[in-house]
Amino acid sequence: AVERTLSIIKPDAVAKNVVGEIVSRFEKAGLKVVASKMAHLSDKEAGGFYAEHAERPFYGDLVAFMTSGPVVVQVLEGEDAIARNRELMGATNPKEADAGTIRADFAESIDANAVHGSDSPASAAREVSYFFAATEVHSR
Ligand code: CMP
Repeated sequence: AVERTLSIIKPDAVAKNVVGEIVSRFEKAGLKVVASKMAHLSDKEAGGFYAEHAERPFYGDLVAFMTSGPVVVQVLEGEDAIARNRELMGATNPKEADAGTIRADFAESIDANAVHGSDSPASAAREVSYFFAATEVHSR
């Protein structure tokens, strides 16, 4: 089925100037960018986005990292977009990510891991609406 998923190109990848290379991988895999913006997240925005991790030991470091510089937040649309994006990203920990994935190629550590992608249809729906109004998503 055609799905939408939320992608974040994280501060490490923006700082490395590989936004275009990452978006190109999405496009070559058949995912369309249907919403896009750059943002420098506040503690409140990043903390709310990752609220499900609030009790995890890495939450403080995660919020600090995600607010350390600008990010690119996008909605990707396409056939099986959620799983397809997760395949392109590779494992959360870049040391475990398959060769040729975004995290294997661009990420340094489990914290600075280049990209985020929604992990289920329910989280995709929540995450897309967390960052974008319906009028900002241009399905095509
Ligand atoms: P992301 O997919 O954005 O979702 C939560 C983030 O927390 C994850 O990517 C990692 O960058 C970060 N993180 C740090 N430590 C861990 C951990 N032990 N398990 C999962 N995620 C972690």
